Amino acid sequence: MESIVSVNIEIEKDFCNFAKDVLTGLSQSPKVLPSKYFYDAKGDKLFQQIMDMPEYYLTNSEFEVLETQKSRILDLIGSESFDLIELGAGDGTKTKILIDYFLHQKTNFCYAPIDISGNVLDQLKQDLHQRWPQLCCEPVQGDYFDALENLSQSTDIKKVILFLGANIGNLQLEEAEDFLSHVGEYMQKEDIILIGFDLKKDPKVILDAYNDPKGITAAFNLNLLHRINRELQADFKVNQFKHWETYNPVTGATRSFIVSTCEQTVHIEALDTYFHFNAWEAIDVELSQKYDTTMIENLAKKSGFEVVEHLFDRKGYFVDSVWRKK
Ligand code: AVJ
Repeated sequence: MESIVSVNIEIEKDFCNFAKDVLTGLSQSPKVLPSKYFYDAKGDKLFQQIMDMPEYYLTNSEFEVLETQKSRILDLIGSESFDLIELGAGDGTKTKILIDYFLHQKTNFCYAPIDISGNVLDQLKQDLHQRWPQLCCEPVQGDYFDALENLSQSTDIKKVILFLGANIGNLQLEEAEDFLSHVGEYMQKEDIILIGFDLKKDPKVILDAYNDPKGITAAFNLNLLHRINRELQADFKVNQFKHWETYNPVTGATRSFIVSTCEQTVHIEALDTYFHFNAWEAIDVELSQKYDTTMIENLAKKSGFEVVEHLFDRKGYFVDSVWRKK
């Protein structure tokens, strides 16, 4: 049982990090805010709605990959028992396809979902237990690397690491390289990692996924301003800002901006600071990097891996790429 004191310290730490990142980001030019702060309770709900939208093809594409290639994935893993470690498990919707299949194949494995949100993990654990009481499930709450550290200490059992959903796209190319190199430090020769990448495609298809007609993505992004209003006692007039999306077909960078539609000043009480916005000044709020197979192979090489296999959906929109350490 976690004590109330340690829970409170965690909450205070989260609050400080948020406050610090908002102060740094909005003091910068151009202004930036980290997309990881999209996911408060409201943001989680909106993201769920995004995943259900027909325009957000990523969900269906990755579902299709896992559904159609689950037996190939198990072949690549082999017949040894293993730990199935998921970075940023969330509600584990896609992973359930694999879990269900692995259990049916009488595979010997233990599922270790890692997430920063203890809430999400508790729910996931309950949900999994109801469905598969026999499943070994040991959630680890916390930072990816702290969690990997914990998992590495106890065993030399084979690791199968999942990093699904194109979450890697939120990192700049160099950040992705550092991140994966670091993950690699926790892996042995026979371990594998399966990473979901969203691929370059018709720019129209990409822009539609982040620019839906119902404005769900806009609400998701602008929710960040509501969150700052609520948690840091700010006075953003959210209707004086708009969502704007761009895709660069050369680099694959897909970016979301929040644009100030007029000149205005915002007061953030918790930071004791005023922030000035020129008319049409933008805040850079999210990178959703799109890749091609050459970029993926380069990334693998630079971070100390080799590509074992690319698992595509039929349309070639998305790839779950399986890597081993070099
Ligand atoms: C959860 C980071 C994969 O970048 O596509 C969806 C988040 N942002 N719509 C993505 C997101 C706007 C999503 N990832």
